[in-house]
Amino acid sequence: MISPASIDLVFETARVEEVIGDFVQLKKAGSNYKGLSPFSDERSPSFMVSPVKQIWKDFSSGKGGNAVAFLMEHEHFTYPEAIKYLAKKYNIEIEETEQSNEQKEQQDERESLYLVSEFASKYFQNILHKTDQGKSIGLGYFKERGFTEETIKNFDLGYSLEEWQAFTDEALKQGYKIEFLEKTGLTIVKGDKRFDRFKGRVMFPIKSMSGRVLGFGGRILVTDKKAAKYVNSPESIIYHKSNVLYGIYHAKQSIAKEDNCFLVEGYTDVIQFHQTGIKNVVSSSGTALTSEQIRLINRLTKNITVLFDGDAAGLRASLRGIDLILEQGMNVKVCTFPEGEDPDSFAKQNTLEELSVYLVENAKDFIEFKTSLLLDETKNDPIKKAEAISDMIATIAIIPDELKQQVYARRIAQMMDIEENRMYDSIQRFRNRRLNDLNKRVEKDEFKDTKLFEVIRNDFDDRKVDVQYVLERKIIEVLLLYGNKTEDFEDLVLKENEQGQLVLEPVINTAKVFEKVFLDLQDDEMEFSNPHFKTLYYTIIDTLNQNPDFQLKNFINTVDTDIANEITTILMEDERYSLDDWERMHIFPKGKSSSIAQLVSETILSLRCFLIDQKVKEFQQKTIQNKAEVNKNILEEVKDYSGLKMLLSRKLNRAL
Ligand code: CTP
Ligand code: MN
Repeated sequence: MISPASIDLVFETARVEEVIGDFVQLKKAGSNYKGLSPFSDERSPSFMVSPVKQIWKDFSSGKGGNAVAFLMEHEHFTYPEAIKYLAKKYNIEIEETEQSNEQKEQQDERESLYLVSEFASKYFQNILHKTDQGKSIGLGYFKERGFTEETIKNFDLGYSLEEWQAFTDEALKQGYKIEFLEKTGLTIVKGDKRFDRFKGRVMFPIKSMSGRVLGFGGRILVTDKKAAKYVNSPESIIYHKSNVLYGIYHAKQSIAKEDNCFLVEGYTDVIQFHQTGIKNVVSSSGTALTSEQIRLINRLTKNITVLFDGDAAGLRASLRGIDLILEQGMNVKVCTFPEGEDPDSFAKQNTLEELSVYLVENAKDFIEFKTSLLLDETKNDPIKKAEAISDMIATIAIIPDELKQQVYARRIAQMMDIEENRMYDSIQRFRNRRLNDLNKRVEKDEFKDTKLFEVIRNDFDDRKVDVQYVLERKIIEVLLLYGNKTEDFEDLVLKENEQGQLVLEPVINTAKVFEKVFLDLQDDEMEFSNPHFKTLYYTIIDTLNQNPDFQLKNFINTVDTDIANEITTILMEDERYSLDDWERMHIFPKGKSSSIAQLVSETILSLRCFLIDQKVKEFQQKTIQNKAEVNKNILEEVKDYSGLKMLLSRKLNRAL
């Protein structure tokens, strides 16, 4: 593990504009730098780097973060890889830490599993290329399938001898522990007997995004009804089936460059496509697609083309998984192959040119494809048609982009011959239901982990920007930018003057911004309404409370990438829109404040005023409902609140 001190040093030294400058041509624009997005094809720059905030934001893809996040996005580095890259660039010597025993064991175990897997991969390749059995049986099989020597080497394909424990014996001889051989599943231990899991199979190593061997698929060579065609590594602490896509390591560059990813079912489909010359292809390895897998692709492109084997049964079963892709805001096309063909066999029979043309000509928009598929099945049965319609509504209701959703709603309405407006009503109803469910689950505290952000973002981001949302977000922004700055705040307190009248008198309080925010909001017993801002708010306050000297610009370096993304979005927003939006919404009538103290006061006051308005409205509502017994208490409270609101408004005017 890299020591926290080294990580800090790297962060302190690395300049985001210098790091990015090695990959993107940046031009100075005011206090920022601008450039063409390296994540999309564009002609006018929407990529922005802020040397002051030490962050970047790509407005075309929505990505953003610090220097490390950039390297992780652009170079597909893991976190430690990115740190090491920066250390090298800035000549910083990296110090590895002492870990707690438990951490060490965990880390050691993971590392040991990686090492065993790497060894196994090398071993199986060696057997394939260097032994008689390997050459005649293993290589013979691959050649028969039409794989070239180059392809076989490129994918590190291998062979496991037709013997009970040849691999296990060799591994033990080389000093690998049986514990790790068992944990990777390479060896099956039964009492004091040991068996090679992959005995007599050709081997497909499964690699992570950064190229480490995580597990294997082993294919049987003969057709044997009793034995499984493929045997795969079991789940382990390094291999989680649902997080892995076969081929992602070989495909990542090309997926980003082509801005599209072909998704196929099998190992051999991936390999055959590569050999034919199409490299942006990955496989979910026969299992249902998961959100984690989609997220891996989503980091590289927004476009997926799902390729189906020529049988209709598999196709129907896969439709659900595709909704998951839409939910992540990606564009999905589907392409089928002629009856009896799969991507592997089709690629094998065709040239690159023919295959490319086929894919272009036959890739259909998923939603249109699904609509006509469902329509075909209804055969004019009205009940089935109603079911098909709700199925389609469920599919498009989860598309995060409203414009896109509208375009699809219109198209489906046409195709299914229903009124467009009915579509919108149904979508709205579907979304409300989902939002209700979600709120209930948030209340039940079902999302304690970071996944919260994904779930929430999808459902909240595209809601109309309401004032409270904007203000809560502004508070987060203020905290992030100025949280531990010490400022003089002018508070107005009610005092009795010589004539015995109550007047507002300014009193200067010196405080840290985060304390001021916290205390003021606590005064009102105010809670953030957006659960996602609420988490951020408490995290920031907590961090500053424990360590008042904490550099908030480093805050982003300590949180998950999801949260970091959120934070950069907040921090860069003002760069994007300047302050036009604020003014239009009459939240800050005077635009940007001249001092931090003023900005902080304004923001808090605006939020308090808003909340009081809400309260008053609530009371009025109650009063109307309880007309019969107009509750005196309620009226009193409304009066109190109205008074408070007036007071706050006056403070606000002063503050402006
Ligand atoms: N698969 C599996 N176990 C099986 C069958 C299939 O894990 N018993 C997974 C494999 O990842 C396989 C994928 O599902 O690659 C697709 O299955 P299939 O199309 O049957 O296999 P292919 O990869 O096409 O292999 P082949 O062309 O050799 O039949
Ligand atoms: Mn197949």
